Amino acid sequence: MKKVLRTVFAVFMLFALLFASSACKKGENASDNNSGEKKKIGIVQIIEHPSLNTIRESFIEELEKKGFKDGENITIDYQNAQNDQTNLKAICQRFSSNNYDLIVAIATPSAQAAAGETDEIPVLFSACTDPISAGLVDSLEKPGKNVTGTSDRVSSEKIMELAVRITPDIKKIGALYNSSEINSISMINDLKEYAQKNGMTVVEATVANTAEVQQAVQSLVGKVDAIFSPIDNTVASAMPVVAEVANKARIPVYVGADSMVEDGGLATYGINYISLGQETAHMAAEILNGKNPGDIPVRTMSDLQIYINKATADAIGVTIPEDVMKEAVRVFDK
Ligand code: TRP
Repeated sequence: MKKVLRTVFAVFMLFALLFASSACKKGENASDNNSGEKKKIGIVQIIEHPSLNTIRESFIEELEKKGFKDGENITIDYQNAQNDQTNLKAICQRFSSNNYDLIVAIATPSAQAAAGETDEIPVLFSACTDPISAGLVDSLEKPGKNVTGTSDRVSSEKIMELAVRITPDIKKIGALYNSSEINSISMINDLKEYAQKNGMTVVEATVANTAEVQQAVQSLVGKVDAIFSPIDNTVASAMPVVAEVANKARIPVYVGADSMVEDGGLATYGINYISLGQETAHMAAEILNGKNPGDIPVRTMSDLQIYINKATADAIGVTIPEDVMKEAVRVFDK
């Protein structure tokens, strides 16, 4: 009899416990809703250049369409690190110690800084060329931890194939990039592989910051038939200077992103960054609605297109072949 009573008592206690814990959880949720507390989203951007600004703007716009509006049900804290590692760290530390609900990191250096600060707060990266080499995720399909995002990886080979269609006599190709941007290094490695297969020589001109870009381009004048610059944040922010020097020397500059073509590069075979910003917003909405970042695969963009700058072509005396022109999704004429 005693045994039966004990069992009944144990079962009763178990139910009591279960009830108490579920009531407690409900209480937490209710207080979340009742207090109307807005979720805090920190956006960190390594530097302001046209492409990263496009990503941020389209991200915020699309997030609003998904029902998350700054000042209404979320608070967005946007910070620009001005290409400075110390700033970057301070921004990410503040986001983390203030316990933000989500950190959106635009470009690879921002993502590395954010992921280095927290392994609890969801970190959503945007436009990381090579998230695996950057140490952000172990696998694109199963990121696993608190970090996921979108990648803007494009093929150096495809860009070079386009380059050869436009200017067939490339024997020496200048590689212009910041050697501390891991996003650039992986595309430059692909370029080297392409060059080796196709009997081209790569002449490197690396920079550490935007102030060094002009000198680096100048160093390639007379040494190369064309210049290749990957999706490099430092070069992208100094692209008008690159175009000025290269155009004067009549050197075609092939680049990794549409904004770099708009800013004077000759051509690219690239992705649409408005769509990438929107895709990042869809992932943000999933995370804000409770999904675990580690369960969301990294998204890549498969829709690659040709971008041409006709004014640059004219300035350096290059005729863009008819078929390339027809294929181009966008032709800039300034
Ligand atoms: N992909 C770059 C990175 O991984 C960021 C980036 C996005 C970028 N759009 C760009 C760089 C355009 C140069 C130009 O950091």
